[in-house]
Amino acid sequence: MSFKVLYIGVGTDMISHMQNHLAKPEYDKYETDNFSVIKDKLESGQVDPYALIFCGTELKNVSIQELGQLLRYGYEAIPAFLITTGNTKFNYQDVIKNGFGEVFVLPLDMNKLENCLTELAQEASFHSVKIFDLKAGDVFDFDIHIFMPVNKKYVKYFFAGVPVDVERLKRLKSQSVPMVFVPKERMKAFYKYMSSRLFDIDSGKGLSASERQAKLETSVRGLVMNVFEKDKGNPFEAGRKKMEDLNAVVNEFILKKDPGEWYQTVLANVGSDKDPYAHATRVSTLAALFSLALNIGKPAELSAAGVFHDIGIASLPVELFRTKEELWTSYEWELFHLHPELSIKYLKEKKMMLPGNVEKIILQHHENWDGTGYPKKLNRDKILMEAQLLRVADEFDYLTRYEANKKVMKPIEAIKDIQRRNIVNPAITNNLAVMFEEGEKNIE
Ligand SMILES: [Fe+2]
Ligand SMILES: [Fe+2]
Repeated sequence: MSFKVLYIGVGTDMISHMQNHLAKPEYDKYETDNFSVIKDKLESGQVDPYALIFCGTELKNVSIQELGQLLRYGYEAIPAFLITTGNTKFNYQDVIKNGFGEVFVLPLDMNKLENCLTELAQEASFHSVKIFDLKAGDVFDFDIHIFMPVNKKYVKYFFAGVPVDVERLKRLKSQSVPMVFVPKERMKAFYKYMSSRLFDIDSGKGLSASERQAKLETSVRGLVMNVFEKDKGNPFEAGRKKMEDLNAVVNEFILKKDPGEWYQTVLANVGSDKDPYAHATRVSTLAALFSLALNIGKPAELSAAGVFHDIGIASLPVELFRTKEELWTSYEWELFHLHPELSIKYLKEKKMMLPGNVEKIILQHHENWDGTGYPKKLNRDKILMEAQLLRVADEFDYLTRYEANKKVMKPIEAIKDIQRRNIVNPAITNNLAVMFEEGEKNIE
C-alpha cells in the first residue's frame, strides 16, 4: 500500500524532519502563496490518494476555514492536521470545527507530533491504563501488554478471553509497574467495561483512574490552547475567563481527591509519554500532592503552576527541537533556559492574573538548591519552597516516565536520585523518601 503524505504550506526543513519519522519516502508538497493553484490541483482529482495531510500556517491569503473546507471537499476521509507555532494566534475550536483532527503547536508539541508520526508509521499504537483499574478476574476481549523499557517493546501480559490472574497482577504491583497498555483502538471498549464496573460499585458515579487521567489531560490541553487563542473582545475579561477555566479544572480534577491512598495517587501519576499536556497534568497533580503531604504552600497554586510551567517553550525557535538535546550548543541551551520567563510572558500577555506565588513558582522551577539551576542561579532559601516542590514533581516525571532511550526509574529510586543530586532542600526529599518507602510497604 502506498503511503503518501500531502504537505501544504509546511517549510522544507520541517517536512524532511517529519519524513524521517515516517520513514516513508513519498510526499507531495504545495506552497501556499498561490492558493488558486492548490485549489485547481486539489479539485482536479488527478492527484494520488494521500494517507495524511499536514497543513502549515505559512498560509498567505487563505484562512484556516477556507483551507479546511477545500480539504473536506477534495479529501473527505483523509486525516488532516494543522501545524502552527506558539507565535501564531489561532482559535483551537475553529480549527477543529473545520475538520482538522489535531493541532500541533510547535515547538511545544514537537514530541507529540513525533510520537504521532511514529505511531502512524508503525500502524500500531497503545494507550496506557493504570494498573489500579485492573482487577483480578476481569476478562477483556483484547490482549493487555506491558512495556519493556530495555528493548522498547510491548509484550503481551494478560491475554484476551482469559481472566486477569491474581498472581501475575500482584507481580506487577510488587515491581511498582504503574501501568499496562491497551491497543488504542480498544480504549473505548475498555472505558465502557470500566464504567459498567463502576456502575456496580457506586451506581455510576466516578471514573476509572485511567479515564480520569485522559479527561484531565484533555482539559489541560484546552487550558493551554486558551492561552494561544486569538483575543476576542476585552482582553481583561478574556484573561479572567481563562483563569476561571483553570480554577475549574484544578478544583474538579486535581484537588478533588482521587479514589485510593496518597501513594497510589502518586503511582497513578507515573507517565508513559513525553506529550507536553500529559507532562503538565502529572506535574500539576504531583506538585499538589507533595504540597498536601508536606504542608508546604497551597495545593491549588502548585496545580496552577504545574499546568503552565513549560508553556513558554512554544515561543522558542522550532529549529531548536529538530536537533537532539545531546547535540545542543551552549547557545542553544541558553535559549532553552529562557522558557520559565517566556511562560510568564505568555500568561501576562493574556492578562491572566496569577494568584499568590504562582508566578514565582513558574519562574523558579529550574533553580537548584546548590545554585546550579537557571535562569537566576538562585540557591538554598532564595528559592521559594513551592518552586522546589514543582522542581521535584518535574524531575520525578522525567525520571519515572516510560520513554524510549532513557532509563526508567521506580518512584522510590527517582526520589532518592533527586535527594542525592541535592537539587532541592534535603528536608523535602528526606520526608518524601520516608513517605514513598512507607507507601511501597503497603502495596499488596
Ligand atoms: Fe521546564
Ligand atoms: Fe516540565
